[in-house]
Amino acid sequence: MAKMLKLSSRIQCDVLIVGAGGAGLRCAAHILEKRPGTNIIAVTKVSHPQKSHTSTAQGGLAAVDPRDVMDKPIYHMFDTWKGSDCMADQDVVRKIVDAAWEEIVWLENKGMHFTRDEEGRLSKRTFGGHTVRFGEASAFRAVFEADRTGKGIMDNTWGEALKSGVTFLNQTILTELLLQGDRCIGAVLFMEKPGEFVAVSAKATVLATGGCGQVFRVTTNCRQNTGDAHAVALQADLPLMDMEAVQFHPTGIVGPGILASETLRSVGGILRNKNLEPFMEKYAPKMKELAPRDLVARAIETEIREGRGILNPDHNIEHVWIDLRHLSDYIHDVQIPEVSGFFKQFMNLNPREQLCPVRPSNHYQMGGIPTTAFGEVQKSPETIVLGLFAAGECGCASFHGFNRLGTNSILELITMGRFVGERVILQLDEAPAPIPTDAGDKSFSQFAAYLELKEKENVEQIREEIRHVMTENVGVFRTEDGLKKAIQTLAASKEKLNEAGLRCRDMRMNQELIQLWELDNLLRVSLVIAQGALRRRESRGGHARIDYPERKNEFNDHTLAYMRDFGKISFSHRSVNMSIFEAGGENCEKFGMIERKY
Ligand code: FUM
Repeated sequence: MAKMLKLSSRIQCDVLIVGAGGAGLRCAAHILEKRPGTNIIAVTKVSHPQKSHTSTAQGGLAAVDPRDVMDKPIYHMFDTWKGSDCMADQDVVRKIVDAAWEEIVWLENKGMHFTRDEEGRLSKRTFGGHTVRFGEASAFRAVFEADRTGKGIMDNTWGEALKSGVTFLNQTILTELLLQGDRCIGAVLFMEKPGEFVAVSAKATVLATGGCGQVFRVTTNCRQNTGDAHAVALQADLPLMDMEAVQFHPTGIVGPGILASETLRSVGGILRNKNLEPFMEKYAPKMKELAPRDLVARAIETEIREGRGILNPDHNIEHVWIDLRHLSDYIHDVQIPEVSGFFKQFMNLNPREQLCPVRPSNHYQMGGIPTTAFGEVQKSPETIVLGLFAAGECGCASFHGFNRLGTNSILELITMGRFVGERVILQLDEAPAPIPTDAGDKSFSQFAAYLELKEKENVEQIREEIRHVMTENVGVFRTEDGLKKAIQTLAASKEKLNEAGLRCRDMRMNQELIQLWELDNLLRVSLVIAQGALRRRESRGGHARIDYPERKNEFNDHTLAYMRDFGKISFSHRSVNMSIFEAGGENCEKFGMIERKY
């Protein structure tokens, strides 16, 4: 069967960007601003770049306004470091925080409609863990476009990329990286509509495919977030870093887990248990509802585990309430119209009059493909893969460490997109490498295996099985037994996947085939998450082990996991960059291994 599959064409471009969300398109826009005429191909697996997951971001984008008399970049750096549970890389933290405001100005200049106050100044809101004066009071640091900030980002980055001449390949997936020694010379893609493989030679290849939230059954992530670049990187013998660091957003709408923005708590929403008690003070006496997400998610889960949750009859799931009834009409209409609408649409509730049911929902992957502060992909802490970059959620320079602060992700994707663009420009004068004769062979054997007649197992059923076991055992709280159970189930699911078959073997627009490939990716990524979580016998940020509740110094390193073949996993580590601490000077002690209380 593998012999029947072949490349339909070989194409050449300057830059191949895989993933056309905020990070990928910010990168494209920067390259084209500085080097007009660069030949860029941007690939997206969805039907249109506007359907990228970036569009779903609600709450805002953190950036210190240089004219703000209360706020300072050093406070933002401190909050990010403390929020990360001392695992963010400080060179990355400094670089991103320092570049933040320039990106707000760039977005506004390109037409983003940031919400403004009555005097015409940019409105700003608080978000969990963002403070001034090193934790003394909440910082108003997030700029936003109502509660649909991601949509605004996509409108602008897509508009810029389109107008500057990017070629888009929609409904196209990355199946293989073309590596020659320590250099990436392009990639193999599969175009879903014609059902054809193409090899692309590029001077620079940028991975920006987003996260992998679909490994969990209850998630705020779009259907397309199946860890595709993560899985392709693993198969190319590249590592993934800190994959056990998963974020659960405290307030997913009960049932499907759709995001109910942290903005709800920022504008004064109160979390209540079944006795209608506001409970956050118990867990975070100072910050309460505005503590970082890992802490609020654990507080909600603890309320539920201790019998103070409410059972939702439709979904048979326990939850707590978010109370928005006391908020003004102005807040409902201007600041949270979208989320209010979600409660109406999905729960038939009126948040002005009724309590709204919420429960933690998988939201974000802090780990990913390890990169330098410039987005260069690393094969090991000492070696980069020349010509290969990663930005956005699939990359991990480690701005977030083990827990991301709300509004830091859009900031990260937009700044890292630009930083990668800056590095890519340095490669543009290189001669393109010829496409090797064996390009595509790995993709052909992988897809040939999918296409062989078997049909004993059902793809959708296996997908649900793994998402269920991940949600139950690799969620907000983890234990050794639960993690081992998850690992066993994943191994069994991989066996089943080898027996799964397709009802239709046509290569064109075959969604079953794509789902099988996605399932393979989900399995690989899930196993790395579960194995990393089992190995990390401590609790840190979003990784909470009931059996090891304390943070431990012996785990003060990033996890690097390699798994070219499913199940054959090996681990290594990368040191955390502590350059702000090591530089000494005023406030440097705040960037040591500090205690994390809110
Ligand atoms: O809650 C939110 O609006 C999400 C923001 C974020 O993840 O940064």
